[in-house]
Amino acid sequence: MNAPVIVAESPSWQVRLEAPDDFPSVETLNAESFGPGRFAKSAYRLREGVDPVAELSFVAIEDGLLRGSVRFWPISVGGHEELLLGPLAVQTGQRGRGIGIALMLAGIEAARRGPWRGVLLVGDEPYYTRVGFSRLPPGRVKFPGPVDQNRILGLSLKGGEMLTLSGQIRRAKIDHPVTAVGAAVG
Ligand SMILES: CC(C)(COP(=O)(O)OP(=O)(O)OC[C@H]1O[C@@H](n2cnc3c(N)ncnc32)[C@H](O)[C@@H]1OP(=O)(O)O)[C@@H](O)C(=O)NCCC(=O)NCCS
Repeated sequence: MNAPVIVAESPSWQVRLEAPDDFPSVETLNAESFGPGRFAKSAYRLREGVDPVAELSFVAIEDGLLRGSVRFWPISVGGHEELLLGPLAVQTGQRGRGIGIALMLAGIEAARRGPWRGVLLVGDEPYYTRVGFSRLPPGRVKFPGPVDQNRILGLSLKGGEMLTLSGQIRRAKIDHPVTAVGAAVG
């Protein structure tokens, strides 16, 4: 097996693509970070039955242990396939070490090489502005459920273009039959 490609690192941790073996630890981290209520969120409706984009899923590893994870989901925005950032999570006790920013930057850099025009997320503006996100004008995009309009942030992936994403947000595609259990991943 080829050695994993390290896309960012500090003296002690490395960021690399998520591998199949990371799946259980990423699931545990997300469960610990967001709790069972995560499945009720509007963003999870967009993930239900849909796989995250494998080439944009990154983990931070230190001494063989998972420290953080980010995944991006394909979504349809006004009929175009775009990206939804998240979940992003760093282990409690490991926060404030730059891991969250490094994970996001790894994903954004990889996404710029893909076909997508933009990334959306629902989150705290002061944090995500650090990697270039800004608030979308209220009403520009519509999530499939209640979302605080002030927390909808966007990032244009293609240089110089204004963020023009608008319209109804829907699931991009269905990879797996949807069950009553809800989103099995993320
Ligand atoms: C949000 C989270 C991923 C940040 O990870 P992290 O590795 O601690 O982030 P970084 O070390 O890269 O950045 C830390 C900096 O961002 C700031 N920051 C972190 N969360 C913030 C927030 N919600 N709002 C504003 N600033 C925030 C910190 O104060 C710190 O600032 P400093 O550099 O001036 O000290 C982590 O706190 C976490 O996993 N939280 C629980 C899950 C969650 O809420 N995920 C995001 C929603 S999808």
